[in-house]
Amino acid sequence: MKKPIVLVVGGAGFIGSYVNKMLNRAGYETVVLDNLSRGHAETVCYGTFIKGDMADTGLLNQIFERHAIAAVMHFAAFIDVGESVHSPAKYYENNVVNTLNLLAAMRRHGVNTFIFSSTAAIFGQPQDAIMKEDHVCRPINPYGETKWMVEKILRDFDHAYGLKFSSLRYFNAAGGDPEGEIKTYPQKASNLIPRILQSLREPEGAITIFGTDYPTPDGTCIRDYIHIEDLGAAHIMAMEKLLKGAPSSFYNLGNGKGFSIWDVIHTVEKVLNRKVNVIKGKRRPGDPMILLADASKAIRKLGWRPHYTLEDMIEHAWKSSAELSPVKEAELCKD
Ligand SMILES: NC(=O)c1ccc[n+]([C@@H]2O[C@H](COP(=O)([O-])OP(=O)(O)OC[C@H]3O[C@@H](n4cnc5c(N)ncnc54)[C@H](O)[C@@H]3O)[C@@H](O)[C@H]2O)c1
Repeated sequence: MKKPIVLVVGGAGFIGSYVNKMLNRAGYETVVLDNLSRGHAETVCYGTFIKGDMADTGLLNQIFERHAIAAVMHFAAFIDVGESVHSPAKYYENNVVNTLNLLAAMRRHGVNTFIFSSTAAIFGQPQDAIMKEDHVCRPINPYGETKWMVEKILRDFDHAYGLKFSSLRYFNAAGGDPEGEIKTYPQKASNLIPRILQSLREPEGAITIFGTDYPTPDGTCIRDYIHIEDLGAAHIMAMEKLLKGAPSSFYNLGNGKGFSIWDVIHTVEKVLNRKVNVIKGKRRPGDPMILLADASKAIRKLGWRPHYTLEDMIEHAWKSSAELSPVKEAELCKD
């Protein structure tokens, strides 16, 4: 039997491009919509790619009319926390208003299965070191606020219109395509592992640690890193469960293991056999000391389990890193 068609919005980005590959490997057909504001066409190595914006109602109508979409995976958003503080309008517009436009198109075309990329940033300052799904949500920046708003919209749309959704709250997404086929481009975002790897590529490159005096064993903040392939597996499992009639749900996705900034730096040095230059900076306001996911709900309900180690994430991120100058599609997507 033919598997359903999945619309992957934001599928030219870091996580979406890899989940698109996983969907195709699992036998799904995909249609990828991305406006390339942050993504790269070269990363869409599978499925049908449409360059366009989820704000474009006419285009969304066309996509739903032409393709028998059974489910939508929504990765498209602006994701830079710092930028969201300085340009909140841009974030509310893209992450909330445009998501409403996508949901409206789904309603018009009777598509009611939705997988949403949410984030640990909805929680704000952690009350507990290990965060469960019912942790209080008090985002401390516009980026987190936009994701929290969408989660509330999803809950209401389920109640009123029967939308079935899974909201997946990722902690720190890391890694890359283990096969190195889909390239990861340097992001403006402040994710630690890409920042360290970037510092290794620059002559005299260095990484700043923001705060070395936290009351943690080595004085630096502790975070939870999760490989994009582990995230992708959770997306597919959550979608399949919804398609079989499961109710909407929220899942925290992380490894549940904490690594300090020094742990990550030392692991990069070990895996790549390179020295990382470090600058010890001051704490950044609002940076929680420790952020860890309790993913036991996803493990219990989805049968999901993360497989990749920090070493794997570093190795795969390094292997899949694209050079700063875009490489030709033919070189990237050899199949
Ligand atoms: N990277 C992380 O650590 C992380 C953590 C938690 C949550 N998330 C969420 O996961 C999702 C994917 O993150 P990512 O790291 O792959 O980011 P990314 O920036 O690499 O990917 C987002 C993609 O969406 C596209 N896009 C943005 N606005 C669009 C629009 N209006 N129409 C069409 N396409 C649009 C961009 O061009 C880009 O390709 C985001 O929603 C993000 O909030 C990411």
